[in-house]
Amino acid sequence: MSEIYRFGISLEKQLINSFDRLIKEKNYTNRSEAIRDLIRQELVKKEWEKNNNIAGAITLIYDHHREGLTNSLLDIQHNFRKLIISSQHIHIDCDNCLEIIAIKGESKEALELANMIKSLKGIKHVTLSMSSTGEHID
Ligand code: NI
Repeated sequence: MSEIYRFGISLEKQLINSFDRLIKEKNYTNRSEAIRDLIRQELVKKEWEKNNNIAGAITLIYDHHREGLTNSLLDIQHNFRKLIISSQHIHIDCDNCLEIIAIKGESKEALELANMIKSLKGIKHVTLSMSSTGEHID
């Protein structure tokens, strides 16, 4: 673990009261922990914007009876095989499938893949979870 650095923050009373309510709702044990999380979140966002290497997951739900959809999904995933590191398929009921696609690579490609999946007919829901270590910001 790296060296701990301490610093003070000046805030309006109303803002800190709102922040304290928020961190209580989110079960943070103290302000430092909450602020650390916020900073990391922004750094991760910055990495995605800079098209750095990221890791994440695309989660989708779709109707497997939809003609051609399963094949289209397979074709697309084969084309993005360098980005996709793993995928899991779950039959959630008679009609619907849940797929979780783990990805690692450039954020631009991850967005491209997620948007391509979203545009297919029969896809009911897609989320793109963006993650990274947040340690590569210059
Ligand atoms: Ni299925």
